[in-house]
Amino acid sequence: MLIKKMTVTEKIRAEIVAFPIENLSHLEDFRLQFLSKKSELQLLLGTIKNVEVAQRKLFGQQVNELKQFAQNYYDEYKTKIESATIDHITEQDVTRPASAVRTGALHPVSVMMNEICSVFESIGFEIVDGPEIEDDDHVFTALNFPEEHPARDMQDTFFIELHPDILLRTHTSSMQVRMMESTKPPIRIICPGRVYRNEVITARSHCFFHQVETLYVAEKVSFADMKQTLLYFAREIFGNETKIRLRPSFFPFTEPSAEMDISCNICKGEGCNLCKQTGWVEILGCGMVHPNVLENCGIDSTKYTGYAIGIGVERMTMLKYSINDIRLLFENDVRFLNQFSALSY
Ligand code: DAH
Repeated sequence: MLIKKMTVTEKIRAEIVAFPIENLSHLEDFRLQFLSKKSELQLLLGTIKNVEVAQRKLFGQQVNELKQFAQNYYDEYKTKIESATIDHITEQDVTRPASAVRTGALHPVSVMMNEICSVFESIGFEIVDGPEIEDDDHVFTALNFPEEHPARDMQDTFFIELHPDILLRTHTSSMQVRMMESTKPPIRIICPGRVYRNEVITARSHCFFHQVETLYVAEKVSFADMKQTLLYFAREIFGNETKIRLRPSFFPFTEPSAEMDISCNICKGEGCNLCKQTGWVEILGCGMVHPNVLENCGIDSTKYTGYAIGIGVERMTMLKYSINDIRLLFENDVRFLNQFSALSY
């Protein structure tokens, strides 16, 4: 038994000497292995009393010496490492600029959305928010969509568990209805938000995207008011040289309706791939609120008129930053997103 114990002390001594200690974390590992309560050495101390009387004294001496050896070894390295760390610190150049802290950044679509909102806020529009899960009435019926309109089709609309009445809004125009139902003119609001369409995902279309809806209803609001607001908006976002043009179009909830193009900000109207050599790119739909819609929402269409504008945020983002594939905006590839990290709004 004595021989065995002696061997153990020798073995532990060899382990102590071979233990590599180069930093504070090694030092802690050393302490756990040789000096902590559960270490083999500590347990050995507990066995002294069991050794035969004749050998107990010698064995006790050896184990205690080993313990002291381990403690000295530890203390010596502790002093060495701590003083090395202090030397190292005092050698550092404390005037050196700190390394940059990486912070998050806004997504380019959020930047664009905020920018659009702030242009309209600057001319008195108020931001409102509304539900993405909507009912048929707010998305279609009150907006004068005929019963058979293709947009109501399951091909275009996501219904909730095939309930014919509850659906994911396909456009933010539903907020026109909510605001006109609940407030009296003058109404001057913008509603930024996400919309959903049951579309195949391609470079140009996605099953969800963002819009900013604008609505102004008051007495004597005219098409000319809308046109001037649109010109101001386009120039604020794309620069003072930007030209706009309105082309007649059709939406069930506006009459007359139009789509607005801006002069291409890439080629400045000369013609390029982005504008398909026309010098113009479409950025939004707009029009005078249809009298049926005003009446559906309880507003007297003989007294009030209004205009509504629907802006596609991804489209504007793609135009402003020359992005040619909408999917890039939703893949969350940091190599793509990092290019926009300097933008903040
Ligand atoms: N809601 C239309 C869409 O999603 C966009 C739109 C067009 C909104 C004309 C409007 C508008 O307010 O006047 O395609």
